[in-house]
Amino acid sequence: MQRRLSQLVEELHDGFCSVRMDGELIYSNLSAREILNIEEDQSVNFFNDIIRNEKLVKRIKDAVNTQNGLKDIECDLFDFKSKKFPVILTVNGIRDIDGSKVGLAFLFKDMSALKAMHAQLLQAQKMESIGMLASGIAHEFNNLLSGILPNAELIKMTLENDQANFARAEAIHKSAQRAGNIVKQLLSFARHDHIEEDVSLNLNRAVSETLEIMGKLFGKEITVENKLPIDLPPIKIDPTRIQQIIMNLAINARDALEGSGKIIFTAKTVEIGKRSESGLGEGQYVILSVIDNGKGIKMENIERIFDPFFTTKEPGKGTGLGLSTVYGIIKNLKGEIKVYSEVDRGTRFDLYFPVSNTDVINAQADETISTNRKNKTVLIVDDEKVIRDMAKDMLDYIGYDTLCAEGPMQAISMLQESDNKVDLVILDLVMPKMNGVTCFQEIRKFNSTIPVIITSGVGESNKRDDMLAMGAAEYLQKPYDLKTFSQVFEKIKL
Ligand SMILES: Nc1ncnc2c1ncn2[C@@H]1O[C@H](COP(=O)(O)OP(=O)(O)OP(=O)(O)O)[C@@H](O)[C@H]1O
Ligand SMILES: [Mg+2]
Repeated sequence: MQRRLSQLVEELHDGFCSVRMDGELIYSNLSAREILNIEEDQSVNFFNDIIRNEKLVKRIKDAVNTQNGLKDIECDLFDFKSKKFPVILTVNGIRDIDGSKVGLAFLFKDMSALKAMHAQLLQAQKMESIGMLASGIAHEFNNLLSGILPNAELIKMTLENDQANFARAEAIHKSAQRAGNIVKQLLSFARHDHIEEDVSLNLNRAVSETLEIMGKLFGKEITVENKLPIDLPPIKIDPTRIQQIIMNLAINARDALEGSGKIIFTAKTVEIGKRSESGLGEGQYVILSVIDNGKGIKMENIERIFDPFFTTKEPGKGTGLGLSTVYGIIKNLKGEIKVYSEVDRGTRFDLYFPVSNTDVINAQADETISTNRKNKTVLIVDDEKVIRDMAKDMLDYIGYDTLCAEGPMQAISMLQESDNKVDLVILDLVMPKMNGVTCFQEIRKFNSTIPVIITSGVGESNKRDDMLAMGAAEYLQKPYDLKTFSQVFEKIKL
């Protein structure tokens, strides 16, 4: 019986220690030895080496003398490597046969993992609700910009000979573009933008190309080192996104260096197992680390740095959207971002990218817009006149003939009467009476080949995959611009 009891104590999941009245350790079970980093016969004083808090030791002694102990108190202990960790602690007095106190028994549960998990959960919930708010705002602004941006662009084109008004239109266009960029960043944080396609790419090349573009931004006293190994497996990401990530982290590091110091980019591959507590799915990941020896991040700011609009920079110097964008992109990829920082010593960001299982392709975007007449006709179907007119102007400009329909019924009859003259349909997804999906299906009933490009506002971006699976030629999120149009037409060889 006695032996079985000792074995039970030895194998308890929680730490158990018995000590003399002066704190000298008499016995520790296996869990306690693991948690406290001590050997079985090591000389340890529980009060001085483990509790290290005079007030708490006094409270424990008093409680043992008056009520025979304490139950479930939350406090911190130290292991033998001086690492502090949170525990739930229960203390009992140990009595001799004659009733005199001969020692104390400590039972403690290590709460580090649970606390970390709780903090992670709170952070995730916070980011989720900020994400919803951000996406709501971004959605509204996106709609407004759909009217402003392309019209400003078109006005500019018609005013090339009127310098004063051209400059004004240019100013509107530039401001609207800037607003568009903020909206884009908010959308990538809120993870509602699936505009570009992910491709398998080489992280090493992405880092060196981006750093090359950034070259002069760093200043003479700042050393930037690319230490990425050359044999990294590819990752799957939209190329402009990875550039955004690298730029944001590099600029933050540069700012933290306040004029001089070092920024190191490095990477390695890790395998995340099935039972990992990281929250990441099982599989291979490339970890990109961006390390600087700058001023570091204060403890109280660490959990806020990914919030949109959180910045410690002077007004006008930072919008506080850099890291929230990075966070959104990484979460979208089902990756992870971690930060380690010490004030006055520096900061390290670790980004976990899932490894892609397809080969690297080298996509090169074509910047030129061809405006030759194409002798092709495009039917634009949208219930909003502003959008219709704008799309018509853009298509006219890049050389297409256009027809416009205010809604699905008109579109269907126009198509049926057009005698196969229409070469492409641009169809809005959300319209009153009949939505774009039904309209698309109706069109397919009498014309199984005509390419149909679906367009939509922000909120519907999750329909992209469905629509492509149904046979749509492409899916464009509003606001679109000339370049996107011409690229899409090129892609579908219109
Ligand atoms: N490497 C770093 N070292 C020290 N502090 C950092 C570092 N990276 C980010 N921070 C802190 O996190 C805050 C938020 O960063 P974030 O990139 O989101 O916004 P920002 O740089 O202030 O503005 P923006 O990126 O929009 O121009 C920064 O203001 C800064 O306080
Ligand atoms: Mg930044």
